[in-house]
Amino acid sequence: MNAALETPVEPAVDPLPSPIAPMSAAPASSAPASSIAYTYKRFPLTIVRGDGVTLVDDAGNEYLDCMSGIATNALGYNDSGVNAAIAEALSNGLIHLSNLVSNQPAERLAHFLTAQTFADKVFFCNSGVEAVEGSFKFARRWARSIDASGAKHEIVAVRGSFHGRLFASVAATDRAQYRMPFRPLTPGISISERDLDALKVVLNPETTAALIVEPVQGEGGVRPMDHGFLRELRALTAERNVLLILDEIQCGMGRTGRFLAHEAAEITPDIVTLAKPIAAGLPMGAILLTNRVASALQPGEHGTTFGGGPLVTHVAHHVCQRLADPELLRRVREDGAWFGAQLAALKDTHPSVRAVRGVGFMWGVDVTEPAGSVIDRARAQGLLIISAGDHTLRILPPLVATRADLERAVAMLDRALRDGATP
Ligand SMILES: Cc1ncc(COP(=O)(O)O)c(C=O)c1O
Repeated sequence: MNAALETPVEPAVDPLPSPIAPMSAAPASSAPASSIAYTYKRFPLTIVRGDGVTLVDDAGNEYLDCMSGIATNALGYNDSGVNAAIAEALSNGLIHLSNLVSNQPAERLAHFLTAQTFADKVFFCNSGVEAVEGSFKFARRWARSIDASGAKHEIVAVRGSFHGRLFASVAATDRAQYRMPFRPLTPGISISERDLDALKVVLNPETTAALIVEPVQGEGGVRPMDHGFLRELRALTAERNVLLILDEIQCGMGRTGRFLAHEAAEITPDIVTLAKPIAAGLPMGAILLTNRVASALQPGEHGTTFGGGPLVTHVAHHVCQRLADPELLRRVREDGAWFGAQLAALKDTHPSVRAVRGVGFMWGVDVTEPAGSVIDRARAQGLLIISAGDHTLRILPPLVATRADLERAVAMLDRALRDGATP
């Protein structure tokens, strides 16, 4: 491993109680009476219906959704276009075929994505983490195609990253809590400071295959990367013959007001990972690739049973066309800037609000109290938001939210913050 990467992102000795208590041993008070494995602390909320930007719980309470199924439901709920696309897709009786035969919706979607973006080729899969893990395989295979020794294999991620929770993606994720209980993680994947000088030391043409970054870090606190920094990363990786992988699973597909977030920085990556909103909530991911990278893999070297099936790709084609619509993107940019200004103004009236960051319909609000307390009070007001770390609220409205919806969200958040103020 590169010397500059030796700073551990977690203690060498696992600080968790040993042996780690199994999930089933969670205190009865915190483990809900459910047969679903207890890997999520859920809100005390059961949603039974959705329409537009509104969700309705089992007691009939209505909520303004500003979590979008964690940046997935970009077109909101009960969207007539999505509903029609699902019905259309089913009309020929095909849900799944396997990748042993071609299907027209997948070809049409791949054609759309390559026409719309930098990519020459697309690999379809079933989730974000699968897109990230697949992107690492494409990067390593490309590197091995230029150096058969395998020395050029390291993947570098940066501080604050989140790339998923399987063994390679979690090794590229800078959150000790997600990593520690599962070590040893996949080797050859490390985390660097998010800083050009550090990366100049770390990225080695002989040993590094790829650098992966999120143009806007999501889970890591909603941190947009400066466009100048992204351009410097592109220049540095090109100079070192290292691939640049952009993880746009959360920030891509319209959320920043561009179809792909990196377009604003006017750079061309080698690989982009997509998932969340791509098929309106049907499980799907995609890896966008340049020819140079895609051509390194031979048939049989990567695959997936479900990836690119006719149902999901038909729906995704509809969704992608909607999310690439210049009018929708313009509105996300303009209303998003307005929304950000309203959120920033909360700092003037609420000393507990420390910082506001974001772009488009993706905002983070740092608060002094635990984010969970504000989220609970917002929910009591009828607003659904989530966190990005212990002290950051994450606000992700569906991209179909109107300015009036955003105004209501700000008003509810304002009240939620006021409720927590000590008299
Ligand atoms: C930037 C980023 N990468 C990867 C993932 C993993 O995606 P999934 O949960 O679909 O596996 C996420 C999920 O939140 C994400 O935000």
